[in-house]
Amino acid sequence: MSDFSGPGDYQKLFDPQVYLKTYYSTSGGDTSENEYLQFVLTNLAEIFNSGKVKGETLIDISSGPTIYQLLSACEAFENIIASDFTDQNREVFKAWLTNQPEAFNWSPVVKYVCQLEGNKVSWKEKEDGLRNSIKQVLKCDVMKDNPMDPVVLPPVDCLLSCLCLEAACKDLASYVSALRNLSTLLKPGGHLVIASALEGQYYLVGDVRFSALSVTEASVRESLSKAGYVVEKFERSTKSEKFWENKTEFTDYFVMVARKNA
Ligand SMILES: C[S@@+](CC[C@H](N)C(=O)[O-])C[C@H]1O[C@@H](n2cnc3c(N)ncnc32)[C@H](O)[C@@H]1O
Repeated sequence: MSDFSGPGDYQKLFDPQVYLKTYYSTSGGDTSENEYLQFVLTNLAEIFNSGKVKGETLIDISSGPTIYQLLSACEAFENIIASDFTDQNREVFKAWLTNQPEAFNWSPVVKYVCQLEGNKVSWKEKEDGLRNSIKQVLKCDVMKDNPMDPVVLPPVDCLLSCLCLEAACKDLASYVSALRNLSTLLKPGGHLVIASALEGQYYLVGDVRFSALSVTEASVRESLSKAGYVVEKFERSTKSEKFWENKTEFTDYFVMVARKNA
């Protein structure tokens, strides 16, 4: 495998079960111990319950095998379209969606988000609500002009993307292209919400090392501006030195909201 992990490497080498176990299983079910989830879920709960980011349809770009990112989004959007490049991630996502016995147990994370949102509903109701709002699970490639090709979707109100673009893009030029490609899926004035990591180098899934594009707050802001978005919010939090041991290397977590130019 070359330094950059391309789509073929993801299809061949990305193991969703190992990824979930490494980054999303919590000892004793305490989600607040996971720095990334604590920071991102708190910010997403704030964003999607603010009343400022809402509408009919949201597309989650590169959901991977995970659903945590959608738990607050489903409070603000009736319809959610999930997506990923690899077949195996879409299968694992669908296993949770259709409540299969072998599906990953997200209940500690669902309970944590319910708490963040003031326990308005039980965690079971929250899971059912999210399952009901997910209408499609599509293949996507952010490097294609139409990332959902061959499916053509009408432009939506919001795009969400977590830990995707730094994985999918080999340099800043392709990062800007990917943001432009995503923009074709979004209505003018629609929101783009991104959660990810700054100054990333790599992340491990078992023994396999996947590359991460190193971005800074300044390069993310500049790329968004080049691709026709205006940044409305940018929150970041420094990673604790020892957290994640040597499984991944980066400096900060970030969550940002931008708006596509009208
Ligand atoms: C680090 S995982 C993130 C998964 C999930 N969103 C999360 O928050 O844990 C990176 C994801 O990017 C996807 N990916 C890699 N290259 C891609 C591409 N060219 N287009 C779309 N997705 C891609 C992979 O299949 C993988 O699911």
